[in-house]
Amino acid sequence: MGCQQSTSKSLEVDYSKEDWFAFLVRTQNMGANGFKKVKSEPLLNNLNYLNNDDVLTIREKQLVRESWTLLSIKLKSLGKQVFLRIFELRPSTKNLFPFKTVWGDKLIKHPLFLTHSKRFVKVIGCVVDRLDYLQEECAQPLIELGKKHVSIEGFLPDYYDVYIRAIISIWKQELKDVYTNELSEAWHKVLVYIVSKLKEGYETEWKVATYFNPQ
Ligand code: HEM
Repeated sequence: MGCQQSTSKSLEVDYSKEDWFAFLVRTQNMGANGFKKVKSEPLLNNLNYLNNDDVLTIREKQLVRESWTLLSIKLKSLGKQVFLRIFELRPSTKNLFPFKTVWGDKLIKHPLFLTHSKRFVKVIGCVVDRLDYLQEECAQPLIELGKKHVSIEGFLPDYYDVYIRAIISIWKQELKDVYTNELSEAWHKVLVYIVSKLKEGYETEWKVATYFNPQ
C-alpha cells in the first residue's frame, strides 16, 4: 500500500502519513480541560453511502489530482479566499474567532486568520494525496478533527456545509474554463466525503459532551 506523491508546493508541508495524523489528531488548545457548553444541535445528513474507497471513479480521481496541481500553486492565497468567502456566505462564522472585530488588511494579516486559512486547504491536500485510501488513511483523522469543533462555543455543524460552498465557489473562480461539470461533480464528492467525516466526528463528540454536561 502506498501514497501518492504530494503535488502541493507553496505550503512546504510534508504530507507523510505521520505528519497528516499529527496535524489532525493533536490535542492542543481545544477541549483538553473538558467541554464548554454546546448550544447547537448537530444537523447531520445521511452520508453513509460515502463509506468506502470507491467514492470517485478513476477518471474523477485523475481530474481532481490534475486540477489540484493547478490550484496548489497558489495555496496560501486560496486558503485566505476560502476563509473570506465563508464569512460572506455566513457572517456568524467570524464571531467564533478572536479576530471577529478585525477587517480588511489587518484581518488577512492576522496570525489566527492565516493559521485557520492554511488548515482549510492543507486538509484538502492531505485527502487528495490519499484518494485511493480514503477509508484507511483519511476517515479517522477527519473524524477526530470534526470532534475538535464541538468545544468551540457557537459552532454549528452546518458550518461544514458552508465550507463546501465556499470552496466550490473559489475553485470555479480560479479554474475558470477548466472547471467543467464533470470536474465539479468530482470535487463535490471529495468535499462531501471530507464533511461527512467531520460531521460524524462532531456528532459522536457532541453526544459525549451533552451526556457529561447536560444543558
Ligand atoms: C466554517 C467552518 C469552520 C469554522 C467556523 C471553524 C472554526 C474554528 C475555530 C473557531 C477554531 C478554534 C480556533 C483556532 O484554532 O483557530 C478551529 C480550529 C480548527 N479548525 Fe476549524 N472551523 C471550520 C471548519 C474547519 C474545517 C473544514 C477544517 C479542516 C478541513 C478545520 C480545521 C481546524 C483545525 C485543524 C483546528 C485546530 C484544532 C486543534 O487545535 O487541534 N476547521 N476551527
